[in-house]
Amino acid sequence: MQLVFATHNQNKLEEVKKLMPSHIHLVSLLEIGCTEDIPEIGKTLEENAQIKANYVTENYQLPCFADDTGLLVNALNGAPGVYSARYAGAGKHAQDNMNKLLKELASSTDRSAYFKTIIALNLHNETHLFEGIAEGEITFETAGVDGFGYDPIFKPIGYKETFAQLSLKTKNSISHRGKAIQKLMDHLKKPSNV
Ligand code: IMP
Repeated sequence: MQLVFATHNQNKLEEVKKLMPSHIHLVSLLEIGCTEDIPEIGKTLEENAQIKANYVTENYQLPCFADDTGLLVNALNGAPGVYSARYAGAGKHAQDNMNKLLKELASSTDRSAYFKTIIALNLHNETHLFEGIAEGEITFETAGVDGFGYDPIFKPIGYKETFAQLSLKTKNSISHRGKAIQKLMDHLKKPSNV
C-alpha cells in the first residue's frame, strides 16, 4: 500500500521510512508531484496536522499522514505552542526563537515545558490522531549543537543534557515525535487496520 508522508523535510522522511512495516510503501510530497507549501493556518496542532493530511488526500486521492509539533511552556500558558516555528516572527531563525523564549522566562522559576507532536492519518476515509509528548524544562542558556529548533534549551526529564547534546538515536527514543511515530507504526502494523 502506498502512503504519503506530507512533509518537505527529507530528514524526517528518511527517519520514518526506516521504521515503516514492509507492506507500506512510503512516498514523499515530491514523489506525488506536490511541490506547494501547504498553509498551516490552524489554531491547534491537531488542526494543522489534519489540514495537511486532508490537503493531500483531497487533491491526490491518496492515504496520507502529516505531523505538527509545538513547544508548550507552562509559565507562558502553553506558548509558543502551535506558533513555535515563528515565535520571534516570520522569517526569523531558531536562535531568535530561543532568545525570545529565554527573555520571556528570565524571571520565572517555573521552567517546566513539553513538546507535543500530533500525527493525523487519513486512511480508508477515516482520520486517526496519534499524540507524543516529551516533558522537560527550559534551561537558562543554550547547550549543545546537534538537533534543531529549541533543542539547545530543552532538557528532557531524567537527563542532564539538552536534546542538542544527546545523540539522535537517544533523542528519537524519548522524543515527542518518536513516541507519536511509534503509535502510528503500531496502528499500521495491525493487518486489520490497513
Ligand atoms: P514541525 O511541526 O515539526 O515543523 O515543528 C514546528 C516547530 O517546532 C519547529 O520549527 C521547531 O521550532 C519546533 N520543534 C519541533 N520539533 C522539535 C524538536 O524535536 N526539537 C526542537 N524544536 C522542535
